[in-house]
Amino acid sequence: MSLYFDHNATTPLDERVLETMLPWLREGYANAASLHRGGREARAAIDHAREQVAALAGAHPGQVVFTAGGTEADNLAVKGLAARLPRGRVLVGSMEHPAVLEAAQALAPHGWQVDEIPAGADGRYDLTGLREQLAAGDVRLVAAMAANNETGALQDTAAIAEAAREAGALFHCDAVQLAGKGMLRYPETGAHTLALSAHKIYGPKGVGALILDKGVDIEPQLHGGGHEGGLRAGTENTAGIVGFGAAAELAAAELEERYAGLLTLRDRLEGGLSGMPGVTVFAEHVARLPNTVQFAVPGYEGEGLLMSLDRHGIAVSSGSACASGRGEPSHVLLAMGIDPTVAYGAVRVSLGRDNSAEDVDSFLATLRELTSAGAAMPSLNPAVLAG
Ligand SMILES: Cc1ncc(COP(=O)(O)O)c(C=O)c1O
Repeated sequence: MSLYFDHNATTPLDERVLETMLPWLREGYANAASLHRGGREARAAIDHAREQVAALAGAHPGQVVFTAGGTEADNLAVKGLAARLPRGRVLVGSMEHPAVLEAAQALAPHGWQVDEIPAGADGRYDLTGLREQLAAGDVRLVAAMAANNETGALQDTAAIAEAAREAGALFHCDAVQLAGKGMLRYPETGAHTLALSAHKIYGPKGVGALILDKGVDIEPQLHGGGHEGGLRAGTENTAGIVGFGAAAELAAAELEERYAGLLTLRDRLEGGLSGMPGVTVFAEHVARLPNTVQFAVPGYEGEGLLMSLDRHGIAVSSGSACASGRGEPSHVLLAMGIDPTVAYGAVRVSLGRDNSAEDVDSFLATLRELTSAGAAMPSLNPAVLAG
């Protein structure tokens, strides 16, 4: 892969992170629950990682529950909180990742009414719409993300938290995309629970965390040997957790440098896109992640462009990685009220630490070549061709 622009889907594993993990894959294989020396060493390594992850999120180590990824953290929060609440309404953001949206939908057969927080055309949640939904009563749980994985739009989680708390509801916040790319302080989000994932911050896949106050009543979704304070059973993935901790420490230490570098690249990319006639950048006018640009070129379908770029050795996404391949426009853009024919055109570029200005320039040159007058239209969707 020569040019990788899909960091919101996953990041490469940082070499320095890999180095911290290797001993725990080789000689440090003992079970962290074992009482012998090897077990105690593994336990100490996990506890150190807990401190590192807590520091990235501005939380206390005792508030970190390790999971097998962001999806599991979101499911633990949404289903685990709901299980301990009286049945009522759950308000879930319309632009959420499926890990949150579908976890909320899964509550419906258990007697919950699932309603959505409407999105504004700008890519932010509509706080007036949220307050109206809350005023209708009976809302027990609100779930909304800190930063959107497709558009990069930052949400006003403090305002969402305040509205939820005033209405007597709990608030789960998915901070998977914000962590490592923007300032994240658990107490300032106002959230009761906060989901994180290691592989979005140059850590390993299959490791995440739920941050929660110990006073929050939550039902474990995995039962077994009482690991992670009884909230997530299963032998700890020592190497993965150690890697998550190292990635978190590096992300915190390098946050400003990474942020500034990404923003410079994003400005360069957007400068180039603005010179291309008719290009729409979604959520363009709100504060966004420094690495994310989702755009559409008129007359071109996102997945067609993705495949053409791929043939030139350039990796992008046509929306969220999970949604691509379904042949449907992004639910995020539809929630924002974007016309489906425009939404079909969505291409997401998510930059990373290792990208350079030259990478951005060659992306722009290839995109111009693919979309210049006379170039074959890489469209898969007849609706777009007709439109
Ligand atoms: C906003 C958001 N939440 C949750 C997830 C799921 O995290 P994981 O891949 O660690 O399960 C993702 C992954 O793309 C995401 O972008």
